[in-house]
Amino acid sequence: MLETRGLSKAFRGRPAVIDLDLSLPGGVVFAFLGPNGSGKTTTVRMLTTVLRPSGGEARVMGFDVVREAERVRRVVAAVPQGAVMSYHLDLVGNITTYLVLAGLSPREARRRTEEALERFGLREHRRKKPHEVSGGLRRRAELARVLARRVPVLFLDEPTAGLDPGARRELWEEVRSLGREGCLVFLTTHSFEEAEAVADVVGIMSGGRLAASGRPGELAASLGALSLEEAYFRVIGGAGGGPGSPGSSLP
Ligand SMILES: Nc1ncnc2c1ncn2[C@@H]1O[C@H](COP(=O)(O)OP(=O)(O)O)[C@@H](O)[C@H]1O
Ligand SMILES: [Mg+2]
Repeated sequence: MLETRGLSKAFRGRPAVIDLDLSLPGGVVFAFLGPNGSGKTTTVRMLTTVLRPSGGEARVMGFDVVREAERVRRVVAAVPQGAVMSYHLDLVGNITTYLVLAGLSPREARRRTEEALERFGLREHRRKKPHEVSGGLRRRAELARVLARRVPVLFLDEPTAGLDPGARRELWEEVRSLGREGCLVFLTTHSFEEAEAVADVVGIMSGGRLAASGRPGELAASLGALSLEEAYFRVIGGAGGGPGSPGSSLP
């Protein structure tokens, strides 16, 4: 469902993602770990056609992210890092507009908006603007509208950053059920607890390279580590991506 070969990106000659090979089937939750600046968001942005790769190739559901970008956009949806909703519209307006821009008819968009508000417990906040609700609710609304597109491949960039423990758990439950329904969920996270709770497959980025990947338990065992956390620190070598590597600078 998702394949990359030698996928690379450099910014003004500085490598951010180097020779990435990934192969992920549907029905899998993939957790992408790695220090700040190790290339996770850049990878997500290439796979969602926001950024053009500098080298290599990537296919999502068989579609090339450069040559068939339009088709890729129809099968992927992303919750980017950071706030992305319009502060001029209320939650209903935000969700409906997003769905119309994604290609749904206004009527279908309104129908799915109501469904999403219901499913995510946002109905009583429907007329509030994003800055009038808590960060957790806002994040939930961002997720709700993306899930309402019902696409087979979802990218969630640090989806639980800033959420309280209850909201995190709810989101994990949602992510697992999407996986069971056959979706490919590609999420980046800094939380080992999160990766262990939701991921079927884990990848660890370090300095722009995929330094390790596999099922969480097997990955740890293959590195002689007792936990994902221990494996992570073995792979990244201390606190960062190493001196002079792209992983050593903050984004
Ligand atoms: N648009 C950009 N222009 C220049 N450099 C960038 C850009 N986006 C990311 N980078 C650099 O690429 C590297 C990887 O960043 P990023 O993919 O955001 O890492 P992560 O998401 O793992 O924290 C960092 O060194 C960052 O500064
Ligand atoms: Mg990032």
